[in-house]
Amino acid sequence: MRGKFITFEGPEGSGKSTQLRILAKRLREAGHRVFETAEPGGTPIGMQIRRVLLDAQNAEMRPTTELLLMFACRAQNVEQWILPALADQQIVLSDRFTDSSVVYQGIARGLGTELVYEVDRIACRGLVPDLTLVIDIDTETGLRRARARNQRTQGVETRLDEQAIEFHRKVRQAYHQLAGDEPHRVRLIDGGRGEAEVAQQVWSAVAGIL
Ligand code: TMP
Repeated sequence: MRGKFITFEGPEGSGKSTQLRILAKRLREAGHRVFETAEPGGTPIGMQIRRVLLDAQNAEMRPTTELLLMFACRAQNVEQWILPALADQQIVLSDRFTDSSVVYQGIARGLGTELVYEVDRIACRGLVPDLTLVIDIDTETGLRRARARNQRTQGVETRLDEQAIEFHRKVRQAYHQLAGDEPHRVRLIDGGRGEAEVAQQVWSAVAGIL
């Protein structure tokens, strides 16, 4: 027996990180032990890799490099934090996981989903989320939110946000396809509604697996 592994996914500016925090608080109030993580990043080593991945100055980064760095973060996170927390019966919430690589590198970058699953076998050794919540958002609205946030924080983590709109449309489309292909694991949630309403939909989906 291990704890539950729940991941949040979605295009830029979907509000998934806010929803993860709301869920974590609600689960803790209900008496659960919760471990929160995020990708790319998570562990201290992962955070160093994240800087390389998202730095707008690294415009020459190739798709294969991007894929392997995403999974380098993930391998470290799975071994150092996620598997131990699951073994300790905690509920692990991850802001993005392998589905992001399937959607962004496999489909939007065109590397192919088979290749992504091959690397996943090495990095994650069979770990698949029990539930994945895709917070869906219209591409234009999401990008507007993400770019406003970048301006507010004067962030340098903009290499991926700055991709052409077609790239982000492919990302959204790929998430829809994923939800259609794996309806038992992947739930599509309308992120265009108010924060509390989205949180309620998230809560109902999570209640179903606890
Ligand atoms: P974030 O804004 O949710 O922190 O994600 C950072 C960016 O990294 C976002 O543009 C999505 C992208 N990403 C991938 O392209 N592949 C991955 O495997 C992950 C985890 C994120």
